[in-house]
Amino acid sequence: MDSYINSVDFFKGNNPEALVKEYGTPVYVYNEDIIREHMRSVAGVITKYPYTANYSVKANTNIHILKMALEEGVNCDAMSVGEIKMLEAAGFPYDRIFFVPNNVSDEEMQYAIDRNIMTSLDSLSQLRQYGELNRGGKCAVRINPGVGAGHNEKVVTGGKKTKFGISEEFIDDIFAIAKEYDLTIAGINQHIGSGFMKCEPYLEAVTNLLRIAERFDNLEFIDFGGGYGIPYHKLDDEIPYPMEEFKKALEPILDKFVREYGKAPLFKSEPGRFCVAEGSVILSRVHAVKENNGKTFAGCDCGMNVLVRPSMYDSWHDIEVVRDGKVVSRKDLKEITVCGNICESGDLLAKDRLLPEIQKGDLLCILDTGAYGYSMCSTYNSRPRPAEILVTSLGKLEVIRKKETYDDLFRLM
Ligand code: LLP
Repeated sequence: MDSYINSVDFFKGNNPEALVKEYGTPVYVYNEDIIREHMRSVAGVITKYPYTANYSVKANTNIHILKMALEEGVNCDAMSVGEIKMLEAAGFPYDRIFFVPNNVSDEEMQYAIDRNIMTSLDSLSQLRQYGELNRGGKCAVRINPGVGAGHNEKVVTGGKKTKFGISEEFIDDIFAIAKEYDLTIAGINQHIGSGFMKCEPYLEAVTNLLRIAERFDNLEFIDFGGGYGIPYHKLDDEIPYPMEEFKKALEPILDKFVREYGKAPLFKSEPGRFCVAEGSVILSRVHAVKENNGKTFAGCDCGMNVLVRPSMYDSWHDIEVVRDGKVVSRKDLKEITVCGNICESGDLLAKDRLLPEIQKGDLLCILDTGAYGYSMCSTYNSRPRPAEILVTSLGKLEVIRKKETYDDLFRLM
């Protein structure tokens, strides 16, 4: 594909150069239609049995995006009290929030208990802590199904090497603690990792989780976690996550379980990335181009403080070059390393990437930044965080988060 932003009319007729004249660079730009469409798609993963999709808000907590989830009938999962507060502010009722924390304090747990928010405990130690705080209560436990998958080792959250979940050998201990504190285990959940493009590991984990589920009486829900990837190499025509194939393969696995268990609990999943990643780009200005030892570097204002994924996980984000408001064709490509403005050698957006020639003053349009983009931003090197702009369904531009100011950097000191 020569240009993704043109093929989907990402800016809906708004010129990117005019957009940044108004809002500056770097800037996150979201497309409302794309986000809503992805949310609708995850809401239909299971249709034969009771099912809800939870949007995993860690991917992006902008309140305007949370409101879209609310309107699209998607529930949400939260990892922290901060995320719960975001959901409260967006208007989510507590019974549409699933709290899936890791290593939290009594105070954090109590926050959810006081609001009757279903909470999943991801260790025997946290289950006991929950029992102390909420004897006679109802909760869930996070199981490690022994399978992991993800785009990078750092985001594999199931299997032998991870801190997450309770492994199968400790199931009897779950029952013992539940008995001691008179807890009802209403649900079990898992999450095997993030950003996988094949459905096999997920199906294997679902199969394992359902086998483990048989040991629990009367489960109200079983949550398979998120992790569906998106095609980050879309300019090279990467094939998207095979959602239809996945749905087809999932159904007989669920049929078998429902037959054997004697009832269909509520099935859930927790996708974050899939809902929001493709619905955002970053526009960034190129401020310098130079040659260093035979290598061409294009230096822009999207540093690792704005998008950390390439530095943190070596993640690939496609880049389109925009000159005078128009995408430069990818016919003649040159090897270029695209870097940011942060004082780290690892501040690289793209290493030795084949791109159209880049000139000082060009705009770069960095694709697929809606998930774990802004939510992982920092003010490193004392750079205020960028604005977030929404291209609405009607093609209007709305500021959904203002750019931070220098005063903001001083606010808490
Ligand atoms: N549920 C739980 C319990 C999780 O830990 C996660 C992600 C999700 C759901 C959502 O996973 P998703 O559908 O978005 O893959 N910062 C990394 C991703 C870390 C994901 C951690 N957990 C990245 O930029 O790739």
